[in-house]
Amino acid sequence: MTDYMIELRNVTKRYGNIVANDHINLGILRGELMTLLGPSGCGKTTALRCITGHNTPDEGRVFIDGEDVTDVPTHKRELGMVFQNFALFPHMTVFENVEFPLMIRNLDKKKRREMVMDALRLIRMEGYEKHYPRQLSGGQQQRVGLARALVYRPKVLLLDEPLSNLDAKLREEMRFEIRELVSRLNITAIYVTHDQEEALALSDRVAIMNAGRLVQVGTPEDIYEYPQSRFVADFIGLSDFIEGTVVSVENERIVMTVDGLELVVPGLSDVEKGQSLLVFIRPNDVQLFPAGHEGGENVFEGVVDKLTYLGDKIDYRITLGDRLEIRVQTDGRQRFEKGEKVRAYLPRERCRPVIGD
Ligand SMILES: Nc1ncnc2c1ncn2[C@@H]1O[C@H](COP(=O)(O)OP(=O)(O)OP(=O)(O)O)[C@@H](O)[C@H]1O
Ligand SMILES: [Mg+2]
Repeated sequence: MTDYMIELRNVTKRYGNIVANDHINLGILRGELMTLLGPSGCGKTTALRCITGHNTPDEGRVFIDGEDVTDVPTHKRELGMVFQNFALFPHMTVFENVEFPLMIRNLDKKKRREMVMDALRLIRMEGYEKHYPRQLSGGQQQRVGLARALVYRPKVLLLDEPLSNLDAKLREEMRFEIRELVSRLNITAIYVTHDQEEALALSDRVAIMNAGRLVQVGTPEDIYEYPQSRFVADFIGLSDFIEGTVVSVENERIVMTVDGLELVVPGLSDVEKGQSLLVFIRPNDVQLFPAGHEGGENVFEGVVDKLTYLGDKIDYRITLGDRLEIRVQTDGRQRFEKGEKVRAYLPRERCRPVIGD
């Protein structure tokens, strides 16, 4: 008996020559909200469909609550689902839409009414029973979709980009509501998105996919702070990649030269003098000071090439030394002008080596 509510063991799914899921191994704990995150076409929906039973894997097995369901049809898997382009039945009222999964389960009328009203309360839509979908806003429609998925209290809830059609503000609100509901009802959930901010905000853990493969699984903090590949460092948050040549190696520090500048980065095993090394730094980890500010380790002279005002922050493109271009984001209150000379500080511990592709 495992602790996993959902488990994919070595799941592979091919479409002709395309390997949409390439030997995926992933376990989702009971009560956990796991996000599948990755660029368009990386295989997220395919993996979800292997769990729902809409896809049959070419290799591997799928387990739900300890049971091998690989050959169990979708309707017997007891899942709640909300899909990418989720549509309510337009000719049915809100009540009838939410009642639908109960109708096909042959529950009696009184019980159905109770469960529907419960579900509508959960998503704060009591009073809308008689409305038709066209009389609701996009966000209300998606909430009804959620109620429909939750109405029979499934053990597992699967959400495939359920917020993709909403505006930014509503999306943020709904994110929060989904997070709340899943915790409160102690449901195990898989949430699919290609929006990394959404993934960080919602998840207990995030599973990052690229080209059919699972590349890293961890808490939002793990994947943001300790990306294990260039792909993840690039995909999660903003990153500047700096490539240089190692000139000296000590336990705690490696010195490398980059376009004539000496950059000190944290120590790392198996690094040798003369080799090239790739490090990344987040634009908001770089600190900017006026020209003439005191120097020191990893403090470089630079010039502002470009700046973009983003309200709460300012995004700068800065050239350090002769030609090392970096991106820096600072608090909106700290303002430098285009062409201005500055000093940039790249804290050593924030210049982290990237190991894999
Ligand atoms: N029914 C199908 N027939 C053939 N190829 C398919 C089919 N479904 C998906 N694919 C291919 O499999 C790959 C993975 O598709 P999938 O829908 O799983 O991606 P995704 O990560 O959900 O992308 P998105 O973020 O755009 O929804 C893609 O290359 C896609 O073209
Ligand atoms: Mg998809």
